[in-house]
Amino acid sequence: MAAICYLNGTFMPVDEARISPLDRGFIFGDGIYEVIPAYGGKLFRLDEHLQRLADNLAAVKIRQPLTTERWQQVLNEIVMRNQPVHGDEQSIYLQVTRGVAARDHGFPEQSITPTLFVMSTPLTALPEVTAKEGVAAITCEDIRWKQCHIKSISLLGNILLRQQAYDENAVEAILIREGEVTEGAASNLFAVIDGRLVTPPKGPLLLPGITRDLILELAQQHAIPACEALITPSQLRDAKEIWLTSSTKEILPVTTLDGHAVGDGKPGKIWHQMNQHYQAYKQQLRVTP
Ligand code: PDD
Repeated sequence: MAAICYLNGTFMPVDEARISPLDRGFIFGDGIYEVIPAYGGKLFRLDEHLQRLADNLAAVKIRQPLTTERWQQVLNEIVMRNQPVHGDEQSIYLQVTRGVAARDHGFPEQSITPTLFVMSTPLTALPEVTAKEGVAAITCEDIRWKQCHIKSISLLGNILLRQQAYDENAVEAILIREGEVTEGAASNLFAVIDGRLVTPPKGPLLLPGITRDLILELAQQHAIPACEALITPSQLRDAKEIWLTSSTKEILPVTTLDGHAVGDGKPGKIWHQMNQHYQAYKQQLRVTP
């Protein structure tokens, strides 16, 4: 059975979906995307993802193609239709591009219809060995543009940085711009510094992650001291714990940074606590009718 996608108003097998080569997403990377996990067949933090999508479309002046209600229907239907293929835990990818037009860097003069694509892939739980051992990361100079709060489909910088990490046997590149740690190539960053959980403040140099916000909320609920503050590379090097967070990777404990052990080289105490709260939050969503 083939996975089902949604393209411009129609549900269809993903291998039958076709777009024009003149789509500005294909030609220019002119579009916005979201990645939303579903647990127990339920979309995680959907309102927050749809709000970020709306903010991003407005930021790049792409017309919002659907109402919130229609987005909810389409996304839930994608989850439902893909349950026979991917099961209850899915990662939903959606992208909206400016649409099809003759190639010109400027926006088309006549209003065009945005291209809308949604697909599902299976979401796999973190391997047990990751919780036991953690992962390796490297630090890199942030080579991306200065509008990283926009979830743009133009990801060449992120791709090159992630590949550099893979080439050095690490899973992620942690980015540094002008003496400040910003985020990962496809994740946000937390560090435990002087007994406190710290993440860089929101701004144009990093994506306002949905997972990041939830972790700050959970820290507050469970009285784990946390704050948003600048992190320098030397603070990062001395941090007791480092985590990377995203919708697909949840909370990844980094236990090796640039070849050196982080803390005692094992996932830390606060990571274990936070991961329990995060898993409990997911479980709550699964069992809520
Ligand atoms: N990426 N920062 C960047 C650059 C990202 O690409 C992502 C997520 C995050 C974390 O955001 P969130 O918690 O909302 O997933 C931070 C997705 C998962 C991706 O590109 O596949």
